[in-house]
Amino acid sequence: MEILDKHGVMERHSLLLTVGILIVVSIGGIIQLAPLFYMENTIEKVDGMRPYTPLELTGRDIYVREGCYVCHSQMVRPLRDEVERYGHYSLAAESMYDHPFQWGSKRTGPDLARVGGKYSAEWQVDHLKDPRALVPESVMPPYAFLAKRKLRFANIENRLKTERIVGVPYTDEMIAGAREHLIAQVDPEADFDAQDDLIALYETAAGRQGTVEIRDYDGDPDTITEMDALVAYLHMTGTLVDFSTYEAEDLSNRR
Ligand code: HEC
Repeated sequence: MEILDKHGVMERHSLLLTVGILIVVSIGGIIQLAPLFYMENTIEKVDGMRPYTPLELTGRDIYVREGCYVCHSQMVRPLRDEVERYGHYSLAAESMYDHPFQWGSKRTGPDLARVGGKYSAEWQVDHLKDPRALVPESVMPPYAFLAKRKLRFANIENRLKTERIVGVPYTDEMIAGAREHLIAQVDPEADFDAQDDLIALYETAAGRQGTVEIRDYDGDPDTITEMDALVAYLHMTGTLVDFSTYEAEDLSNRR
């Protein structure tokens, strides 16, 4: 066959060979990548997802600061053992407002993507203060100091603005009210108007009722501590989407 005799040329000219390799590899690359740009949505839309409230967002910052991700992942893989242990596998939409995401691959402790709703806030506080008081064989370090440290949120408006730059849909009202909303969420006796405002804004964004919880988390209603914020965040993780009504979109006809 004549065409097969030509390979000698390719093999003797390294530049020609390199160009040939590039062409072949990019065909493979285009076939893999192009459909993603044309698919209507790479992240499925689900009810319930909303931007984090200012308190949850600062709690999440503490989670990142303390390096909880070093031992905990936040992604339930779609494998039977994981789903039976942790609940419904994680959806792409559930981490769409995470900057940076906390999926992780290291599990010295359990996955935390759905830890919200698993325990009471009191349990979370006691466990963070002294993990071995509740789980004697635990190797998790204690974080009791979080209950003594006042939460710093003087720059909370800018914090929300920064998230907006990277695509989280915080509205002008959410940003303007961030400070009051943060205080209102953690103090049940606080400004009722700010509480109504917080619930209305965030639950409308969620398209679902009951996703914002207002309470004192750390058992000390007089001070807003880092413990309050972290537990508010933990308590919310994985609870935004209501899986009793969620139906996975049929992807079979997309292929
Ligand atoms: C050195 C590794 C390590 C670090 C760092 C760590 N944990 Fe843990 N965590 C564990 C282990 C191991 C367990 C399982 C035993 C237990 O419940 O204490 C656990 C359990 C938990 C649980 C209970 C999960 C469940 O489903 O029972 C929560 C909640 C938790 N950790 C939150 C945190 C938070 C928040 C941080 C950061 C402030 C953190 N952990 C940092 C190792 C760690």
